[in-house]
Amino acid sequence: MVGSARLPLARLPRFLAWKRAGTARALPGREVHQYQELKNSSCLQPKMPPCAFVPEKYDSYPYEQMLKIRQENVFPSLYTCYKRPLLIHQGYMQWLFDFEGRRYLDLFGGIVTVSVGHCHPKVTAAAQKQLGRLGHTSNIYLHPGIQEYAKKLTSLLPGSLKVAYLTNSGTEANDLAMLIARIFTRNTDVICLRGGYHGGSTYVMGITAIGRYKHSVANGANCHSVSILLCFLGGRRVFGTCWTYS
Ligand SMILES: Cc1ncc(COP(=O)(O)O)c(C=O)c1O
Repeated sequence: MVGSARLPLARLPRFLAWKRAGTARALPGREVHQYQELKNSSCLQPKMPPCAFVPEKYDSYPYEQMLKIRQENVFPSLYTCYKRPLLIHQGYMQWLFDFEGRRYLDLFGGIVTVSVGHCHPKVTAAAQKQLGRLGHTSNIYLHPGIQEYAKKLTSLLPGSLKVAYLTNSGTEANDLAMLIARIFTRNTDVICLRGGYHGGSTYVMGITAIGRYKHSVANGANCHSVSILLCFLGGRRVFGTCWTYS
């Protein structure tokens, strides 16, 4: 039993199926009442753990003006989600705060390639220290940071993986990985899985196998997307030049 609801939890899947179907699916009145009770019960309305952090006061444009500027002055390929996109104002560790101070638990990290949470004091302190010392230089000079980082990073890698190439973004990393693999193997074909996102540069667009990120310009020469289902079908020859899966 859940809270004041008289509905056993075992019937939760049936309730969820009913909820998904909307009110179109007829159910006996008593059962509907029980489902509503269950829906309102505390077990389906989780409370977030407390958080002592208080975000700063939002001090930029009002929400509607933000939307207008976004529509008129920002390139439309930077699309947003939801009818009323979130206007995120501040982050702290696993929390995000919108412009009204509403708190969200960030389970997604914005995008999946960024995963250290928000404004972790250790990360923030290191970035501030570096910016206060030297903001930019070039790979044509030695700089302590790159060696320190490369040494630490490669010490975590197995076997002979002892060389790091640091890039600014996931797209750049994948672009480079494709280039290095092609130069090293002298093969050009690349297999990617359908539905995978790997970046949006002209080169990497070839292995990003999602329609909305493909554009009608020359891209993706020798990139082949395969259905992820093939993984479950055992070994087979997929293309003339590519063997894969077992
Ligand atoms: C799995 C994966 N690969 C590559 C990328 C591209 O990374 P970036 O946006 O840093 O270029 C993303 C970005 O979301 C990603 O999720």
